[in-house]
Amino acid sequence: MRARRIVILTGAGISAESGLGTFRDAGGVWSRYDLVDVATPEGFARDPALVHEFYNARRVSARAAQPNAAHHALARLEARGPEVTLVTQNVDDLHERAGSRRVLHMHGRLDGALCGACGHRWDAAETMAPGEACPSCAAGAGRPDVVWFGEMPYHMPEIEALLARCDIFVAIGTSGNVYPASAFVEEAAMAGAHTLELNKEPSEVARAFGETRYGPASQVVPAWVEEFLGGSRHG
Ligand code: APR
Repeated sequence: MRARRIVILTGAGISAESGLGTFRDAGGVWSRYDLVDVATPEGFARDPALVHEFYNARRVSARAAQPNAAHHALARLEARGPEVTLVTQNVDDLHERAGSRRVLHMHGRLDGALCGACGHRWDAAETMAPGEACPSCAAGAGRPDVVWFGEMPYHMPEIEALLARCDIFVAIGTSGNVYPASAFVEEAAMAGAHTLELNKEPSEVARAFGETRYGPASQVVPAWVEEFLGGSRHG
């Protein structure tokens, strides 16, 4: 098929083989931390030190991790294929380090800091601490630039516009538990896109996909990309 526009949604599963934990698999992040304590504005207000400690540890892990074959395959697809936009729920930078350029971080990024007082953004230091001063307004309101539960994900107008006109929608390494990302497949299908789930096992929204392939991302993603690039023509 001649696909002109592809939207790819990724979740924690694409970074699992890079050594970064997922959230809801056995032993996942939410089995070790209560998300209310570390991933909500209320949790940050209650105990900013705990929240900074949580993200400091994840920032160190993310910097030590390397992109895997799935990240590299998506970068190859963007370089050689049609218009590809990566919408990631992940806050690591493995897509960028693999060479992907059109990446929308709908849940923010570990390497970003945000001022809770004035909205200024800056590059996060490896470790942040409570009372982190904002370089712009000097308020001690620095926080990780990560979207917490109850907050609005980033880039939604652009994502909705992309879903409304894409030819293929692919979801990789996401369990389909968190809205609005879990509803993207329906929006793409309504726009007439071919929908494909590449995952270790069926997600909560597997039934909504026109095509599904299961296995480790480091295997199923490169296999699909090579098949796609080899099998179809694109201008
Ligand atoms: N290859 C492919 N898929 C995998 C692999 C792997 N090696 N390992 C795990 N998976 C799959 C799991 O089967 C699961 O479906 O990745 C998915 C991970 O699901 P979650 O842990 O729920 O992660 P995610 O879907 O990204 O969570 C969404 O929830 O907590 C919030 O903000 C957080 O962005 C996160 C959001």
